[in-house]
Amino acid sequence: MSSSVSPATRLLQQVRIAATDCVLYFHPESSATVAMGARAAAEGRIAASHRRWPVVSQLRRDVELIGLTQVQVHHAHGLAKWFSVGDAKEYAFDVVVIRLPSERVAFYQLVLDTVKVLKPGGRCVVVGGNEEGIKPAAKVLESVFGKCAVMGHAGGHRLLMSVRGERVDISALQPLVAPFDDVQSFLEVSHVLRGSPLSVFTRPGVFSWEHLDEATATLVEHMHVPERADVLDLGCGAGVLGAVAGRLLKHGTVTLVDADSEAIRCATGTMECSGTARWRVLASDVTEAVRDERFDVVLCNPPFHVGKTTDLTLPVRFIEEAAQVLRPGGTLQLVANRKLPYEWELERVFGNRRTVFDGNRFKVLSATRE
Ligand SMILES: C[S@@+](CC[C@H](N)C(=O)[O-])C[C@H]1O[C@@H](n2cnc3c(N)ncnc32)[C@H](O)[C@@H]1O
Repeated sequence: MSSSVSPATRLLQQVRIAATDCVLYFHPESSATVAMGARAAAEGRIAASHRRWPVVSQLRRDVELIGLTQVQVHHAHGLAKWFSVGDAKEYAFDVVVIRLPSERVAFYQLVLDTVKVLKPGGRCVVVGGNEEGIKPAAKVLESVFGKCAVMGHAGGHRLLMSVRGERVDISALQPLVAPFDDVQSFLEVSHVLRGSPLSVFTRPGVFSWEHLDEATATLVEHMHVPERADVLDLGCGAGVLGAVAGRLLKHGTVTLVDADSEAIRCATGTMECSGTARWRVLASDVTEAVRDERFDVVLCNPPFHVGKTTDLTLPVRFIEEAAQVLRPGGTLQLVANRKLPYEWELERVFGNRRTVFDGNRFKVLSATRE
């Protein structure tokens, strides 16, 4: 077997799928996993949902390229948005495969969604790493379905399986997810930002969803938004930067982009209540959705954590792509942890940079497109 196949994908090769099965993939790791299921269930139906836009667009490209016409791919966390109870018959599945997400509540949501669509006798399969919480995940399956079997181990990962009997018990799980098992429920938090209160809408798994991030608050305090400008909030999360920018504008537009489907839903709620006149929220891999447009200000608090390590690949892309969508004279304004060496990147890409604020933990930097 090729060593380039991840342990999770390798384990999923063990799952038996019949030709007529209907299979649902939540949060799949790769197109390979979904393609494997689609080939086996040649007469069935395959659906997949993932909250990260780059994964979804890659998956859509791949299934089209391979000609897997029975596969539907949704940009969503679990069933959020694309499923309604009226669809229950049409969307009954023989197998639901969950690639364990890193956030606990996000996993619980996927298990509750599984219960909504798994046929009696159907299988719920979960794959994930020991470091990712696969052992506690087994306890969750056991409490819901009564039993959970470990079907395989590979490279520090496990494959779990539960069969849906006549009864399932979600009484222990539901309080841990409530009220967010309702896709229309949001946590609404009010903050006073630049002198006025702002309602921010969030959900589990969205960046800093339970409190205002200190770096975000630092950029809010120090960002400069002219009265007339087209502003891009790059990697908007729940939309705090875009909403504050919208209030500082007298004329102009605010565009918010993010890769996370839940962030997009939350930012939409935040913007609706912000009083901003002209705004939109788009799914995008960095600036992909606005590549042909131009802005006067790009605001961002770039993502840099991947698991427990620091990875600067994404922030570098954020800086490079911000430069491409700025008008001459336009500015990128970003906030970063003091230890992150973004000054070099700004110099390399823009040929200039300015320190707007230098605090104990965070700094705000800006660079101007020449
Ligand atoms: C550090 S958070 C900042 C969120 C928000 N701007 C704030 O300050 O509260 C970074 C955001 O970038 C988003 N993100 C990560 N990768 C992305 C990508 N490839 N394209 C667009 N957004 C991405 C994440 O979903 C997350 O919401």
